[in-house]
Amino acid sequence: MKRGLFIVLEGLDRSGKSSVLSAIKRWLEDHKYSAEDIHFPNRKTPIGKKIDAYLKGSLKLSDEEITSLYSQNRWEVASQIEESLRAGKCFVSVRYAFSGAAYSSAKYDPVFVEHWMREDAGLPAPDLTLYLRLSASEASSRPGFGDEVYERAWFQKRVEECFGSVRAVCEKNGGLWRDIIASGSKEEVKENVFSTLDDLKESMTKIQSQPIKYLWS
Ligand code: TMP
Repeated sequence: MKRGLFIVLEGLDRSGKSSVLSAIKRWLEDHKYSAEDIHFPNRKTPIGKKIDAYLKGSLKLSDEEITSLYSQNRWEVASQIEESLRAGKCFVSVRYAFSGAAYSSAKYDPVFVEHWMREDAGLPAPDLTLYLRLSASEASSRPGFGDEVYERAWFQKRVEECFGSVRAVCEKNGGLWRDIIASGSKEEVKENVFSTLDDLKESMTKIQSQPIKYLWS
């Protein structure tokens, strides 16, 4: 039996990840894949609740502490991801270790994205990362922007730059990364998702015969 694919969706705050998740699931379903999904931070666990309090501004934590909590929050489901993949199911994650690296390194100058992924080393690695490409200025003008601590236009601009560095590190380590233009209407973005996945069909089938990879090994 072929293994499932681990697909990760990344992007700035308010870049439209939820509706793109539906499009990915729809494409997978249409191509006879079964899939589970998750959104990080997973705010349901005790660790996730702490992260939620931090994001809403009611809990103060150092940069090291919050980065570690994000990573622990991923480790909580690492075996569930592996089990799904081994059972032939795809796993779609909205945000993952690359958000951890981009958002944490955006707080510093110069940025060292790999430094902020130390605790993620050994987690299942994404087979495919889809990055929603939307400028920080456009993301910041979307409804609801500003509700959580990182939702500041200047900070999102830095995160956008850091995602560029994260992409380079991902590709250097053999990861597959594609940008999805996320500035159009929901319908247009959905079409971009479908055509990107259509183009990757052959590569995805090949990956299913390969062993699961781990960050960064
Ligand atoms: P969300 O809006 O997708 O729920 O994410 C909440 C915030 O958490 C978002 O601003 C990005 C940030 N984040 C990190 O800073 N590091 C991480 O590892 C993850 C998963 C999210």
